[in-house]
Amino acid sequence: MTKVSGEDLTRRLATRAVHAGHIADPLAGAVMAPIYQTSTYVQQGLGKHKGYEYARTSNPTREALERNIAALEGGRHGFAFASGLAAVDAVLKLLSQGDHVVSGENVYGGTHRQMTHIWARYGLEFSFVDAADARNVAAAVTPRTRMVYTETPTNPMMRLCDLEAVTEIARRAGALSVVDNTFATPCFQRPLELGADVALHSTTKYLNGHSDMVGGMLVMNADDLAERIGFIQNASGAVPGPFDCWLALRGTKTLALRMRQHDATGRRIADWLTRHPKVSQVYYPGLPSHPQHDLACRQMSGFGGMISIELGSVERARRLVERTKIFALAESLGGAAVGRHRGRGRPDRGPGAGAGRRGMRASEVKSRLSCSHAEAWARRSATLKRSVRQHSAVPSPGFSQGTPRETSKSGPRTDCLLHNSRSIT
Ligand SMILES: Cc1ncc(COP(=O)(O)O)c(C=O)c1O
Repeated sequence: MTKVSGEDLTRRLATRAVHAGHIADPLAGAVMAPIYQTSTYVQQGLGKHKGYEYARTSNPTREALERNIAALEGGRHGFAFASGLAAVDAVLKLLSQGDHVVSGENVYGGTHRQMTHIWARYGLEFSFVDAADARNVAAAVTPRTRMVYTETPTNPMMRLCDLEAVTEIARRAGALSVVDNTFATPCFQRPLELGADVALHSTTKYLNGHSDMVGGMLVMNADDLAERIGFIQNASGAVPGPFDCWLALRGTKTLALRMRQHDATGRRIADWLTRHPKVSQVYYPGLPSHPQHDLACRQMSGFGGMISIELGSVERARRLVERTKIFALAESLGGAAVGRHRGRGRPDRGPGAGAGRRGMRASEVKSRLSCSHAEAWARRSATLKRSVRQHSAVPSPGFSQGTPRETSKSGPRTDCLLHNSRSIT
């Protein structure tokens, strides 16, 4: 079981991102975690080994990643998985037939699909509620509730959930609270510190940050919970390969720097979008017009780079995503750049896809803003360009742990890759 060193947890976030989890390489003194590309380890005698028997159970590169992300989340144990959905799968395997889960209704479509199309067949029961109001979560709790599952901000509607309130509801019900922290990242929100039992990630996104691997992660504090997740990780076997772990680990080293830029860029573009005549709605928690802006300022230390907009019709949304030059049309987010169109769900992907979920509309475009110049985004429109320059960033919430209060002072850097995803993948 991977355990974070106490010393790593004393460091500030940007320092943890670079150094946490690294153990000096005894062979050559490599400053980066080596890629242990091996499926098994030599034994000196039957059952006599150096702590590693078989790579599904443990691998030093994977452990370095697990320690690193656990430290970023401020947790004591971390477990890496082959994808974000494999992490969702593992956490739901903590439950048994007949157990009840209260879940946010606007969670990532693939999570919703797994819950309703796989786990419901195995006897788990789900109530999907608008978790933006914690009273809905409380009202859905039954004597059989064993888990409260939330995502905040949600993909794609950028709805928030009050983590202190919701985790307290779960605690009182004797249920586990699981929070998907993929959008905010530990730079801007740390669910464990707000009472959650488990923080979940698709490391495919911001944590990796380069769109070159797929992975997931679960982080927790409780030793007994970690034992159970460790058992599931090994027994079900959805582990990432060492090279993917290494890529994710390389990505997290720059997480604090990247998120600072995403946040600065996100604020400027969101602010500009609110003034654009063709944009009917902008969903971004950093905007004072966001219905949960106060909550965002309270529980997040930055707003990030994810923005959803509505353009009034599917056709307008399609035209936008198909005509941009800097944006690439592709699935996913959190890498070199992103944006996507949410339209009708694809029938072959099942319900829960795209507009099949509550709160989804076909005219939405989701943009993820990344790290080059804001002017690149604005290049096609002189008005936009002027506007991006004129309007200062949305006021900052209180950054903590060395995360970027200074973002609003930095120059107008942005770049966006706009990708078109009409449904979940
Ligand atoms: C918020 C969120 N959670 C989980 C996932 C699933 O992650 P993965 O694609 O790595 O399986 C995604 C994927 O887009 C996501 O956006």
